[in-house]
Amino acid sequence: MSNQQVVSITGAGSGIGLELVRSFKSAGYCVSALVQNEEQKASLCNEFKDALEIVVGDVRDHATNEKLIKQTTDRFGHLDCFIANAGIWDYMLGIEEPWEKISSSFDEIFNINVKSYFSGIRAALQELKKTSGSVVMTASVSSHAVGAGGSCYIASKHAVLGMMKALAYELAPHIRVNAVAPGGTVTPLSGPASAGFDKTHMENMPGIEDMIKGLTPLGISAKAEDVVAPYLLLASRDQGKFITGTVINIDGGMALGRK
Ligand SMILES: NC(=O)c1ccc[n+]([C@@H]2O[C@H](COP(=O)([O-])OP(=O)(O)OC[C@H]3O[C@@H](n4cnc5c(N)ncnc54)[C@H](O)[C@@H]3O)[C@@H](O)[C@H]2O)c1
Repeated sequence: MSNQQVVSITGAGSGIGLELVRSFKSAGYCVSALVQNEEQKASLCNEFKDALEIVVGDVRDHATNEKLIKQTTDRFGHLDCFIANAGIWDYMLGIEEPWEKISSSFDEIFNINVKSYFSGIRAALQELKKTSGSVVMTASVSSHAVGAGGSCYIASKHAVLGMMKALAYELAPHIRVNAVAPGGTVTPLSGPASAGFDKTHMENMPGIEDMIKGLTPLGISAKAEDVVAPYLLLASRDQGKFITGTVINIDGGMALGRK
């Protein structure tokens, strides 16, 4: 087994996931990536040539998550860290919207933001046990606070935090499980197809940077590259070895409330 660390990342085709690929590659990791479509794959191939192991598919499909882990270990020999990161926002969907719309959006958001994490971790479990590896989940300021999403998104990100704590407890002492909770970060983050938001991208919303700055005590909005450092710490076998069951907020103070 090679000494080189191996990380597998979902939602790796854009935004925070793409910056995670760049950062972990720069830190010397072998990286596998689950992306949503061929365009994202082509873009990663263009940037990284054949250095990444890439799977295209839907993160809600358990067979796709199993394929990601199998291709990762077939190519790199083992797995040290699984990062569950793919997600969608709800574009402030309110509970008074028509029931059909919010019911299907709720299912879509929970299937992507919560159940796919569970599925990916389940798929990675046996490989992570072999290496005493770790899991990092992308939570959110909406795992703690209200105001930066609607109730569906906030509920889903609170669920991520609950899952992280429960799995950290269940999988100790074999696997460390932690989360990172970014605040307002300008990315292409989209929303549920059920509500017609699958082609909408947060970075294109007029005034988005000023909106984030106004909600953030530090008065700045983040770019994806500004929020990746905690993932490297949590994945690290040296600096991260005593950390489990923890969430690191990287949100400019947004969880504290508006200043
Ligand atoms: N941008 C923010 O302000 C912010 C803040 C807190 C948390 N987050 C979280 O960060 C994570 C990454 O989001 P981002 O902001 O980088 O946006 P993004 O849209 O760039 O990244 C999300 C990725 O998930 C992928 N994805 C979505 N649904 C999928 C599916 N069904 N199957 C496969 N892939 C799918 C998308 O293709 C995309 O590449 C998400 O979990 C999001 O909730 C974002």
